[in-house]
Amino acid sequence: MSPRLVVVSNRLPLGDNPSGGLVVALEDALRNSGGLWVGFSGETSPSPEDRLTFHDGARFQRASFDLTEEDYETYYVGCSNSVLWPLCHGRADLMRILPEYVEGYRRVNARLADLLLPHLQPGDRIWVQDYHLFPLAAELRARGVTAPIGHFLHIPFPGAQDCAALPNPAELFGWLSHYDLLGFQAHRDLNAFVQSAQELSRIEELGGDRFRLAGRGLRAAVFPIGIDASAFIQEARRAPNEDRMRSLTGAEMMIGVDRLDYSKGIPQRFRAFQILLENHPDLHEKIAFLQVAPPTREEVQAYRDILEETEHLAGRINGQFATINWTPIRFLHRSLPRATLAGLYRQAHIGLVTPLADGMNLVAKEYVAAQNVVDPGVLILSRFAGAAETMDQALLINPHDPWELAEAMETAMRMSANERRRRHAALLREVVEHDVTWWSASYLDALGRARDSD
Ligand code: ADP
Ligand code: F6P
Repeated sequence: MSPRLVVVSNRLPLGDNPSGGLVVALEDALRNSGGLWVGFSGETSPSPEDRLTFHDGARFQRASFDLTEEDYETYYVGCSNSVLWPLCHGRADLMRILPEYVEGYRRVNARLADLLLPHLQPGDRIWVQDYHLFPLAAELRARGVTAPIGHFLHIPFPGAQDCAALPNPAELFGWLSHYDLLGFQAHRDLNAFVQSAQELSRIEELGGDRFRLAGRGLRAAVFPIGIDASAFIQEARRAPNEDRMRSLTGAEMMIGVDRLDYSKGIPQRFRAFQILLENHPDLHEKIAFLQVAPPTREEVQAYRDILEETEHLAGRINGQFATINWTPIRFLHRSLPRATLAGLYRQAHIGLVTPLADGMNLVAKEYVAAQNVVDPGVLILSRFAGAAETMDQALLINPHDPWELAEAMETAMRMSANERRRRHAALLREVVEHDVTWWSASYLDALGRARDSD
């Protein structure tokens, strides 16, 4: 029997319609391998139980824990999303460093190690997810856990300049040194990790994926995350009749689907769309932009600001260009069922994925998987998404330059069916070959071998 997989992440999806790359990918990975998934329930309470609550599922077990309001504020809203998230997305200017945030972050990771300990079994492999839980391996090791522990970072790793903005940069590398395997989305992240560790800690390159970090041996490598491509293709094929939707909108659809996060470049794409409409009156009533952006992390001021900016821009552009029959931008500030999303992607002539910084971006892969292969749409993709390393048949753009992005929108609108099919076939091959099963299998295989020849 293969060893049991224990996945630990901040967020444990217990309801419907998860949005966020991590939960969507791990649902898929655990459905295939079985195991235990431990994470935060999403609930706060004044005195959370000091044990995990188990929720049995068909293919794998889930176990959740609650947080106090103070832990939620300091660990999740504070250190994770007001310090580490902006730092890793090149927005050190948005960081808000408070001593209680770092204390809360350490406290929650230590408590999680306590909660996890009684449920670990001999032979387990532990797979820790993302920036919320950097210290977890150190906490588990301090409690005597010798099992293989891997970490996967879903978001970009900051360069040395950004890492230096942390209150105690060396501590980050100390935490990371307790893992057996560090997984990154893209080569740019692995390189940033090595360079940052060279400047701010001690790292030796031992050849291949082997390193010695702060005195401990570990492996570090790139595992680009994928989607459950075959399931998504099926989902999109089952979607309601395309012609009906097209006649409802009366125009070709351009779609954006993102959590309403400042890293996703949503205002920048609205401005580019405005430039397109200003410069190409012939495209009026021929293109309609649907932006689906569910709320996220609204406790953080920067997220409230981006909502205001997005609504303001959409209103202004619609006011400037709308006609009785045509609304240029429709902005849906909510989550949608995955089947509905799949159908919308399939009907969209353009998929717009233009983050200013992004670990991978699964929407790019979902959009490609959902297309009709005979008459596929065009993916416009930011060079700053991890996905750009492998999806170079998309129209790659710099999202900071609205003129370049507007030009790509025009190119996509006018692209011949032959060119669309050629580009799409190459993208689809990549999405299918490197799907979520490949991602988790290759990561877990590397974790299984991480201690070989140590
Ligand atoms: P991130 O992890 O930063 O949110 P990704 O693009 O990697 O970015 O993953 C986002 C995931 O969330 C995708 O699977 C996408 O389909 C899903 N998602 C995004 N917006 C919505 C929405 N409005 N409704 C449902 N799912 C959504
Ligand atoms: O993929 C990055 C990520 O931060 C995940 O860790 C997370 O599940 C997702 O984005 C959504 O964010 P949150 O869990 O804060 O709603």
